[in-house]
Amino acid sequence: MSPDVHTAHRAGRRAQARVVVPGGRPLNPQAAVTLRRYRPTDRPAVTAMSDALSERSLYQRFFTGHPRLPVGFLDRLDHSPEGRDLVLLAVRDSLVLGVGELIVGPEDPDRAELGLLVRDSHHRQGIGLRLVRGLLAHGQACGVGTVRVEVLTENRAVRALVATYYPTATGVVDGWTVRYELALFCPPIFTVARPRPALA
Ligand SMILES: CC(C)(COP(=O)(O)OP(=O)(O)OC[C@H]1O[C@@H](n2cnc3c(N)ncnc32)[C@H](O)[C@@H]1OP(=O)(O)O)[C@@H](O)C(=O)NCCC(=O)NCCS
Repeated sequence: MSPDVHTAHRAGRRAQARVVVPGGRPLNPQAAVTLRRYRPTDRPAVTAMSDALSERSLYQRFFTGHPRLPVGFLDRLDHSPEGRDLVLLAVRDSLVLGVGELIVGPEDPDRAELGLLVRDSHHRQGIGLRLVRGLLAHGQACGVGTVRVEVLTENRAVRALVATYYPTATGVVDGWTVRYELALFCPPIFTVARPRPALA
């Protein structure tokens, strides 16, 4: 499928997407999903996401059973250092639809870990991919060379996402998980000589 056809296909599919969240609160279909950095004042809105996450999604994110978002995760968002680390929220109408994290290894600033979580009611609307793109762009801008994504081998969604959009990523199966390594392309920096104003 050509990129244009692909984009149109996705746009068409999203136009039919449901716009009512669990709890019955209608969303404004005109409001765009925006990505922005997490702020500590977002904690209640992120905590409220728990009601919109299935046990399966929580298990796929944290690899153990959790009935709700773990407090340790929420604390980590509050305390993740600004700068190279990035917690990115996908937000619409002040509702948090997704959370993406890029955590740079303190012992190896060339490498980072990526984590993702999107409300079940909003899966397959392109939110996860947008979070990934935002996090990778940030990592690249910060000089991160390799981003690691570790998922359960049963995680069809992430495996398909990587296979479709990052086909050069290497994946290593280790028991019940698969670790992907995404090499961030760093374009060479060319210095362009600017014409200098003539001296008077
Ligand atoms: C993984 C996750 C974040 C994907 O978010 P999403 O917003 O639904 O994903 P997108 O709509 O952006 O999909 C991007 C691509 O991923 C793949 N994909 C996503 N969900 C899929 C599914 N259920 N089956 C197959 N492929 C899927 C597709 O390639 C898709 O591209 P396409 O729509 O052009 O076909 C979401 O499923 C989630 O929160 N899962 C639970 C937590 C988790 O697994 N986290 C990852 C471990 S850190």
